[in-house]
Amino acid sequence: MKTLLLSGWLAILLAVVGCVPPPQSGKGFTLPEGDAEKGKEAFVTLKCNACHQVEGIDRLAVEGEQKPLSIPLGGEVTRISTYGELVTSIINPSHKLAGGFQPEEVSTDGQSKMTNYNDVLTVTQLTNLVKFLQSKYELRAIEPTPYPPYGY
Ligand code: HEC
Repeated sequence: MKTLLLSGWLAILLAVVGCVPPPQSGKGFTLPEGDAEKGKEAFVTLKCNACHQVEGIDRLAVEGEQKPLSIPLGGEVTRISTYGELVTSIINPSHKLAGGFQPEEVSTDGQSKMTNYNDVLTVTQLTNLVKFLQSKYELRAIEPTPYPPYGY
């Protein structure tokens, strides 16, 4: 009976410990609501359009650049990036490089080619940029694969 009680407590303890996020966790991270219109302005002011193409925003021509970067943001996607992922993409771009590109296209020695804005970007601009970018993504349903696939 005593061991049964003890193992019961142990199970509860493990369950509780398993749910507690580690101190490095992003859980609980919430920034104030942004303003998409101001985010659009910030996108142009900060020259994000030198490397990114977003529907409704003119590209910024970079003088003397042979092959300007052209990373699309927004559009139809099968999964919309979370708030946390977008914030991370802006303030810590090398953490996870954008998918769909050759590493040498978008990075040098594993470091993103994206400009580091951390010393110039205000938190207000960051929240506005995220709100703006989120408004640009549209969810596209995944085409169902006919099953069973013929020919197999
Ligand atoms: C000098 C070029 C350059 C500038 C300027 C730039 N970026 Fe980027 N950005 C990149 C590159 C290259 C990537 C792809 C590699 C990566 O994920 O870091 C990227 C990736 C991103 C991504 C992730 C895209 C994805 O599909 O995962 C976001 C979001 C983003 N940038 C936002 C911004 C915003 C907002 C600004 C302006 C404040 C900006 N970028 C300015 C080059 C740039």
